Amino acid sequence: MTDVTATPPTRQRPWLDATLPVEERIDLLMAEMTLAEKVGQTHQVANINPDDDAGEIASGRISSSLYASGATAGNERDEGVLVGNIDAAQRHAVKGSRLGIPLLFGRDVIHGHRTVAPIPLGIAASFDPDVAEEIGEIAAREAAVDGVAWTFTPMVDISEEPRWGRVAESLGETPVLSGRLAAGLIRGFQGDDPSDPDRLAACAKHFAGYGLAAGGRDYDTVSVGENTLRNLHLRPFRSAVDAGVLSVMAAFNDVDGIPMHAHEHLVREVLKGEWGFDGVVVADWNGIGQIVFQGVAADKREAAALAIRAGVDLDMVSGAYLEHLEELVESGEVDLALVDDAVRRVLRLKFRLGLFERPYAARPGASNAPTPSTRAVALRAAQAAHVLVKNDGVLPLDDDAGKVLLSGPFVDDGDALLGTWVLDGRGEEVVTPEAALRERLGDRVTVADGRFPDVTLMQARAADTSVLLLGEHRSRSGEAQSVVDIGLPPGQLELVRAVAAFGKPLVAVVYTGRPLDLTEVLDLADAVLVVWHPGVEAGTALADILLGDAEPHGRLPMTFPLSTRHIPTSTHQRPTGRLIRADVDHQEGRYVDALTYPRLPFGFGLSYTTVDYGAPVLSSATMTTDGSTTLTVTVTNTGERPCREVVQLYFRDPVAQVTRPLVELTDWALVDLEPGQARVVTFDVQAEQTAYAGRDLTTRVDEGEIVLLTGPDAARLQPVSVTITSPKASSACTGRPEG
Ligand code: NOJ
Repeated sequence: MTDVTATPPTRQRPWLDATLPVEERIDLLMAEMTLAEKVGQTHQVANINPDDDAGEIASGRISSSLYASGATAGNERDEGVLVGNIDAAQRHAVKGSRLGIPLLFGRDVIHGHRTVAPIPLGIAASFDPDVAEEIGEIAAREAAVDGVAWTFTPMVDISEEPRWGRVAESLGETPVLSGRLAAGLIRGFQGDDPSDPDRLAACAKHFAGYGLAAGGRDYDTVSVGENTLRNLHLRPFRSAVDAGVLSVMAAFNDVDGIPMHAHEHLVREVLKGEWGFDGVVVADWNGIGQIVFQGVAADKREAAALAIRAGVDLDMVSGAYLEHLEELVESGEVDLALVDDAVRRVLRLKFRLGLFERPYAARPGASNAPTPSTRAVALRAAQAAHVLVKNDGVLPLDDDAGKVLLSGPFVDDGDALLGTWVLDGRGEEVVTPEAALRERLGDRVTVADGRFPDVTLMQARAADTSVLLLGEHRSRSGEAQSVVDIGLPPGQLELVRAVAAFGKPLVAVVYTGRPLDLTEVLDLADAVLVVWHPGVEAGTALADILLGDAEPHGRLPMTFPLSTRHIPTSTHQRPTGRLIRADVDHQEGRYVDALTYPRLPFGFGLSYTTVDYGAPVLSSATMTTDGSTTLTVTVTNTGERPCREVVQLYFRDPVAQVTRPLVELTDWALVDLEPGQARVVTFDVQAEQTAYAGRDLTTRVDEGEIVLLTGPDAARLQPVSVTITSPKASSACTGRPEG
């Protein structure tokens, strides 16, 4: 789409000819750029101001601006993006600078812009890449109205540590789930053509190992070997790159002593070299400056040299590149080719986004408030995020539920239910649980008046059923919100215990940005729903599920440990010399004073019906290293309500070059079943799915036995073995000629 206000191609600006291939346009433009202008393209500021920054913009010293209130914007409110500011700043760049290179505007549009969907961990609970794609698509459309062209999502850091607040922004603990959902979000944000005015560039972050922060303390150091990185932590990034993500953000942490903003091996050699990523690597907020705090550079000048060598292309707010790169190149300390590589990538992103043709905000002045159709997407996503983790038959609530008391901190606090990283959503646009349940149940609903314990308990005694809305406020999870205790916040367990003592039906609804210790809640409540922070349709989704107008089908994307003291607990446990099978560990126990099994395993979630799994069956018990086999499993809805079952496929590699996880999710299918219906679910299993980085760190598929396991979650699996053979051996067996 051509913007008539953009400067038309001229002989002086041949790169404006949109019919030329992007790489040629970059060549033409770079041939005209001075070193200072090149360095300008590597500099990103925060919250550009068209008046104060006019001079800097016109002199080509600013490439990009993000809009964020500060270093930890995910937990803060800001004034929103002013389209007028964006367009005015852009005008200075396009009309006022020598080369007219447009600015690139970024903002953390993480799980919705105005129409806020569930937090990413809730999106992950859907196990549904289509849900992720729809959310990305509406978020992009709404943000584009405000002039945003680039979002810093998806976060694909493998998240196994519930004390770490950022797990809320993650897509869970397993690479395949995280990678596929990231691909869905990327498709939603970027579409087939990111130059479409309703799409944004996405950004996979934080490269790499950020989820391994010691003790779950945000930003802490990371000690991990490259084998574990490759076999686990790098994999969703690879999926994001394969899905065409246009940018990647470096992580704040070091990896085994090397800050990621200075990690030449992982950023330049692996991401850009080995994987062929040709997009932008953006620093995280002051990430280049922080190399100094990490004690690996004496000053910002040295930090700039390390970061540009490592392959960080765009400096988010530290100013290190702007202040020092030119001089570093002139003194010969930094090769100009490194700066050129960074600039090419930034320009490539701007060309790919169509900014030279359409530099200004899409549809300025249009409304981007939630509409019935965007709310429908948010509702579907919120329902899909609801994970039923216990039900003694009290749900769905029917007329027998009688008078229902709603109590707990989240009954009518819409804002609390939006979740972390909501810069533009509005609490008043959230349908609260109280509003939705009052609408459905009328005066059967009473709301506790908050005077706990006395009045609340009198109300609970008078009610027939209590629904307790528990968990974390949105500000308790997210960036820099680590906790030492994953128990419920103070006071909430007391409420559960006191209400449970009446012996009447008790439903606990848990809003959270992380796995919590729910052990006692699970013991005391008759039904428990984990619903994360669900977004603008929080109340509607809850009412639908509680009353049985929708079926719960979310599954846990992270393991829930027995308690804080049991961390770490995740699916990726690898065998030790004393631990051969997961169940052996549980029987023996490896602590004297406790068992170590997860309280709720990865992939767990119930429906309002029961589903029976048959044994997995293979079409062939062998496959070649480049071949495949077909696994079928029959699932039967043995209850009286329909359901959507998440049929999960895991594998174990019993003998490999390196220790491999006891079980690893490799595929799944969403299967709708009517009451009584049986369906045969078919998985096409490629030998390649068992690939891993061996001792020399190259990717390999081994010959030998692989155990495939199917079931409803990581702890209830039925195995079948397949033998992987060499293609040569197999053609010899079948008598086919070799060669
Ligand atoms: C810091 C966070 O780590 C990152 O995820 C975010 O995108 C930037 N701040 C920009 O707000």
